Amino acid sequence: MPTTYKRLKLMNASGCNCTTKDELIELYNCSACDMIVSKSCTIKSREGNPSPRYYETDTLSINSTGLRNKGLHYYLSLVKYFEEMNKASRQEKRYIISYADLENIKMFIAIVENHYIVHKIPMYFEINLSCPNIPGKGQIGYDFAETHNLLDTLFNGFKPGLITNNKINIGVKLPAYFDAPHFEAMSEILNNYPLTHITCINSLGNGFVFNDKVKQAVAGNDGYGGIGGSVIKPFGLSNVRRFRGLIRSEIAIYGCGGITCLNDVYEYELCGADVVQIGTELIREGINIFNKLKQ
Ligand code: DHB
Repeated sequence: MPTTYKRLKLMNASGCNCTTKDELIELYNCSACDMIVSKSCTIKSREGNPSPRYYETDTLSINSTGLRNKGLHYYLSLVKYFEEMNKASRQEKRYIISYADLENIKMFIAIVENHYIVHKIPMYFEINLSCPNIPGKGQIGYDFAETHNLLDTLFNGFKPGLITNNKINIGVKLPAYFDAPHFEAMSEILNNYPLTHITCINSLGNGFVFNDKVKQAVAGNDGYGGIGGSVIKPFGLSNVRRFRGLIRSEIAIYGCGGITCLNDVYEYELCGADVVQIGTELIREGINIFNKLKQ
């Protein structure tokens, strides 16, 4: 364990207990949770995949939610709400909106820009490049040319000044990479943009799990789903560590994957994380996990 411990910031992982306003408020009100992120959203709300959408064992979770969410406008409407909560409680707890509707990125830019013009409140986004559960669609983070195009559209699409003056702040959530050249290729792309952060890693896509009745554990997408939990921790750690050696130091790294105890947080810190996100263990234990880790 490190002798000088930085106390990394703690937050939820997108997708975990963060779809409704009530869930986000519960996270916000937890004093040990330093930042919050919404469920990945699309322009319009979605019902998502049929249930069961989630299953867990001692060592892993599988999710196939299919972007069940309340739509971009719902999550944008909470920007003002949390800004007022921050003012009232004299804190600066960051509210990040996770956005995954990458085919409608120009509409996203127009809506977000308009929201800023009307409300003048800085906003934070995590663009999800790694949603694994939409039948027939791949994870854009595995397509380097497409990722490059998307980031170009995004960073050149906003009116000059909105990004450089930190009015609109953008990070990305990446899939796990497993091959050394992929870290280099992705870092070369990421280093071109003024990203606030990268989150490593999303759940590992396209796992398959049997439940205790030897049936497919989740219904949607033919039973394939994203794998989280302690089994993915070695890949979360390696991805944080590799990217920390390759991306610009101003880009923060939010580590995610398999954190259940303080020792796991230390390990992410040793690999170079600035913030850690809790997913499966938050679903398992509720917000108490944050209190436990903070102590
Ligand atoms: C979903 C799952 C993910 O891992 C993700 O990053 C986004 C969405 C989902 O199934 O809803």
